[in-house]
Amino acid sequence: MKTAMKNVNLDKHSFQAIADLAYRESGLTLVDEKIMMIQSRLRHRLRALKLDNFTDYCDFVLSESGYDERKQLISALTTNVSHFFRENHHFEVLLSLVKQKLPTLRNGGRLRIWSAGCSNGQEALSVAIKLYEAIPDISRLDVRILATDIDPKVVQFARTGCYSERLMNGVVCDLREKYFSQDIDLNDEKTYTARSEVHSLVQFNELNLLGSWPMQGNFDAIFCRNVVIYFDAKTQTALWPRFHQMLKSDGVFFLGHSERIADPSTFGFRCSGPTTYTPIMA
Ligand SMILES: C[S@@+](CC[C@H](N)C(=O)[O-])C[C@H]1O[C@@H](n2cnc3c(N)ncnc32)[C@H](O)[C@@H]1O
Repeated sequence: MKTAMKNVNLDKHSFQAIADLAYRESGLTLVDEKIMMIQSRLRHRLRALKLDNFTDYCDFVLSESGYDERKQLISALTTNVSHFFRENHHFEVLLSLVKQKLPTLRNGGRLRIWSAGCSNGQEALSVAIKLYEAIPDISRLDVRILATDIDPKVVQFARTGCYSERLMNGVVCDLREKYFSQDIDLNDEKTYTARSEVHSLVQFNELNLLGSWPMQGNFDAIFCRNVVIYFDAKTQTALWPRFHQMLKSDGVFFLGHSERIADPSTFGFRCSGPTTYTPIMA
């Protein structure tokens, strides 16, 4: 059965149906060159459903009863690569902003940060660790980090706060010791679990950026890094004003290293550093 499944090919018609669905549901754009990659990522879904061709898979995933499978499909299509302390210069910008706000925070003010497209949580935990390093009594202040992703599997993973050695790349020894407990898993591999003081600063939720955003906004900082790179210009352009609306007037918005807001002033932003944007004051 396994050998037969290996040979199931994704035909162009099914690929197009899947690409259209992915675009509608999540904004992901799947170009024709990705067909082999999509084929290999989806073969395990066919296996799980005991289907032996992509036509039947498309019929099912597009049907009314395919709701759960549509989630599985999007999960299989997303790219979840992330690292701790990725693009460190953004954390330095965040820290200088937080230091300015510290007197207000100590006076009962709030600090809210959003990691939008958080993958398995390394970005949000990097923020939490940086904040802890800068403000050791942070747990007494009103500070919260919201971390969201469309992919339920990464959100579930992030909630465990448990990382293999490979995923800990970028976390230096003293931070590992300070903010993680070390265990050995069933395969005799080292694992690291984020300590509750940093993990509890973060709330992990499922959220599709294309859908409605139930949060009230007023974020001091939003990280949406290495997410919109998978979207086309139309989807990106629709997101910029929504992010702008979610930010405080003195907030900051970070994109990934290969992402840009073309003509930021159109959306009320100015570029204040590499892939860093701040709202233009009225
Ligand atoms: C490459 S990861 C980036 C992780 C992290 N922000 C970083 O820079 O390391 C991209 C993430 O965006 C998520 N994503 C893709 N489309 C999304 C959507 N429509 N809504 C929310 N998250 C989405 C994916 O599930 C994936 O976990």
